[in-house]
Amino acid sequence: ADGLNTRAVAAGKEYFGTGTDNHELTDMAYVTALSNTADFGQITVGNSMKWDTIEPSRGTFSYTNGDVIASLAAKNGQKLRCHTLVWYNQLPNWVSNGGFDNVTLISIMKNHITNEVTHYKGKCFHWDVVNEALNEDGTYRTNVFYNTIGPAYIPIAFATAAAADPGAKLYYNDYNIESAGAKSTGAQNIVKSIKAYGAKIDGVGFQSHFIVGSTPSQSAQTSNLNAFVALGVEVAITELDIRTTTPATTSAVTQQAKDYASTVGACKAVSKCVGITIWDFTDKYSWIPSTFSGQGAALPWDENLVKKAEVYNAILNAWGTA
Ligand code: G3I
Repeated sequence: ADGLNTRAVAAGKEYFGTGTDNHELTDMAYVTALSNTADFGQITVGNSMKWDTIEPSRGTFSYTNGDVIASLAAKNGQKLRCHTLVWYNQLPNWVSNGGFDNVTLISIMKNHITNEVTHYKGKCFHWDVVNEALNEDGTYRTNVFYNTIGPAYIPIAFATAAAADPGAKLYYNDYNIESAGAKSTGAQNIVKSIKAYGAKIDGVGFQSHFIVGSTPSQSAQTSNLNAFVALGVEVAITELDIRTTTPATTSAVTQQAKDYASTVGACKAVSKCVGITIWDFTDKYSWIPSTFSGQGAALPWDENLVKKAEVYNAILNAWGTA
């Protein structure tokens, strides 16, 4: 059947997919749409593989919610992007305020990664190993890992993940790196430093949380993706959504359709861009309204799980014919 994923695959990509979260899975109409592989060949675990869910207290691992989404993806025959191992946010207090020394925190981080990646070994085709390690000016963000371990926490995390599941593709994932600039350069430097350390990095994820009418141009996105590919990694659009003031005007929706097409066009143009994930597919479950007051309507399906024809068709057409 025709759909967003069918068209992406026809264009030579591995998938078109969506983020999801456990509390949405009691909504049967939602699950039916999520499980339609014509639209979604891939699922990203939106929350339940983060540190606060997985290891809420030291050495206690809780995989129940993550397993639910991994099983659903397997049942549907969808690829699974696993998200995320090392991030300053959704990190339990016992880690962020534990006052651990360098040696101890390295051991805690390695133990967390090894336990989680081993649990999901063979199930995650991508792992977002490190998430959002950069400030807007491209310098390292201060967080407990950076402050305690220094920048080496990043390559150590990648090497640990690679040892636990050699078959998973390992990604660095961040936002505001979708066009050239200091932060994109910082992300390129992370790729180089992981490789210089002798660790494996397979890909870079471009979150792409955009705003209607001010997304980077298709050519700016294309050339930026190519700058990463030149370093020897693949690339993926990992959390795409394009928000606007709500309620969305008809002209905003028209612009949004063009903006979605720009990102699809950029990924299509870069053979090493392996796929696109939207950050949930329906406005019903988008993270945006609770974070940006008065903003939303960011996704191709509305709050009633109805496709926005103009936006949906723009994505289809940007991929090309099936
Ligand atoms: O689990 C509780 C639930 O028990 C409670 O009923 C509910 C009430 O609001 O809150 C639930 O927790 C929320 C959780 O999402 C699940 O819905 C948290 O408060 C909320 O903070 C959390 O937000 C998530 C956010 O990351 C946290 O930083 C969003 O869902 C998730 O979409 C968002 O995703 C991030 C990516 O991981 C990284 N890139 C940016 C992106 C957007 O912020």
